[in-house]
Amino acid sequence: MKDIFDTHAHYDDKAFDPDRDELISALLSGRVCGIVNQGTDIASSRFSLELAEKYDGLYAAVGLHPECLDENSMNEIDTVRQLAAHPKAVAVGEIGLDYYYDVPRDLQKNVFSAMLELADDLSMPVNIHDREAHGDTLDIIKKYRPKGILHCFSGSAEMAREVVKLGMYIGMGGVVTFKNARKTLEVIDAVPLESLVLETDCPYLSPVPFRGKRNDSGNIIYTAEKIAEIKSTTAEEVLRITKENAQTVYKLK
Ligand code: NI
Repeated sequence: MKDIFDTHAHYDDKAFDPDRDELISALLSGRVCGIVNQGTDIASSRFSLELAEKYDGLYAAVGLHPECLDENSMNEIDTVRQLAAHPKAVAVGEIGLDYYYDVPRDLQKNVFSAMLELADDLSMPVNIHDREAHGDTLDIIKKYRPKGILHCFSGSAEMAREVVKLGMYIGMGGVVTFKNARKTLEVIDAVPLESLVLETDCPYLSPVPFRGKRNDSGNIIYTAEKIAEIKSTTAEEVLRITKENAQTVYKLK
């Protein structure tokens, strides 16, 4: 059965240099039906498109990640626009706010807003990163009303309900299997399966029992099992519904 859809991956990461092609081929000839590789800067957005050209089930998001911004970033918006025209570019991502890092907040907000305007212009969904920036992220989402995913969601159940009401999807990954995931489990409880999508953020955030090891899309099964437990259903049902959600949000059906 091909029922694993990884909505957020970084196979361009150097952790995959030794075996990238073998690994992606093996995953896509197994249970994984779709992967969206996220761009974090211009080079990684290009790399994502190159990977997408090689594999049927792999798609690219192109964008500027808050952690990767500098004085030149506002000048790169047009390049992102050009990359987004590629037939296998399905989203603008990974974009957003990260207040854990010292990148100036005004710069982050300006680039994030510009990326959301671009996505709106192109009628494309977005993949949003929000780390320790819940208030500003929600304010900006309410202003621009994008379609898409709030990835590796770390806000409250209340925020999740608001995001879902705005028509967005909540991205869940390996964190749901961690011992300290109480808040994340409350989020899963608070929103319907129809508003969830699954992801790895690989090579990071491997679920238990592989926590701390290199992650890949095959491990999504463990995330699905944990969500199934909370939703009193089967992992297969979680995979089936979240795959449909992923195909809907990325306009792949
Ligand atoms: Ni990411």
